[in-house]
Amino acid sequence: MKVEVRPASEQDRPVLDRLLQYYLHDFSEFDQTVRSDHTGRFAYPYLEFYWRDPDRFAFLIWYAGQLAGLALVRKETDPGNGERITELAEFFILRALRRGGVGRLAAQQLWGRFPGRWRVEVSAGNAVGYQFWGRVVQEATDGRYSQSLGRSGVRQFTFQIPTPDETGPVV
Ligand SMILES: CC(C)(COP(=O)(O)OP(=O)(O)OC[C@H]1O[C@@H](n2cnc3c(N)ncnc32)[C@H](O)[C@@H]1OP(=O)(O)O)[C@@H](O)C(=O)NCCC(=O)NCCS
Repeated sequence: MKVEVRPASEQDRPVLDRLLQYYLHDFSEFDQTVRSDHTGRFAYPYLEFYWRDPDRFAFLIWYAGQLAGLALVRKETDPGNGERITELAEFFILRALRRGGVGRLAAQQLWGRFPGRWRVEVSAGNAVGYQFWGRVVQEATDGRYSQSLGRSGVRQFTFQIPTPDETGPVV
């Protein structure tokens, strides 16, 4: 299946902005803090930082040449041990293309781009997101991940994606 995760340039910002509107509308179904303003617009104040902050990475997801979704990724440093961790800030597949494996393949491409320690958080009430990440993280790690329940019912998956030289020789 032809799924591509491509870095989004600042010229792609209006496309990401539109996709984020659909994403936030989906979230408004289970998160009462996500509400549109009186013009019908959902605020997302972090988007501009994806072209200002070297630790943030914006991607568009394509399926067979069609726009399929977005991924926003950020890197953080654990203040306790200085360890770098990659976090999936937002991840979205357009409704018409769901349940066909596009999300799974896009996630796999993201792991490949950022090997190392990962964290994925799922909001309370996002049952589909929880099933999706449970499945996709299980597949990527062969079950070697940890899961915790944080404040406000947020569920967190943490796991390690090996660098190519840790996965052994290609035979
Ligand atoms: C979650 C989301 C990204 C899944 O994308 P997708 O392309 O439909 O997912 P896939 O088809 O690759 O599914 C991979 C696996 O996830 C699980 N899964 C995905 N959607 C599911 C659903 N609606 N119900 C149950 N399991 C589901 C299945 O195990 C599936 O594997 P299978 O089809 O072999 O059974 C998409 O539904 C979405 O964008 N939702 C709104 C935004 C969101 O919640 N993002 C995640 C934020 S944490």
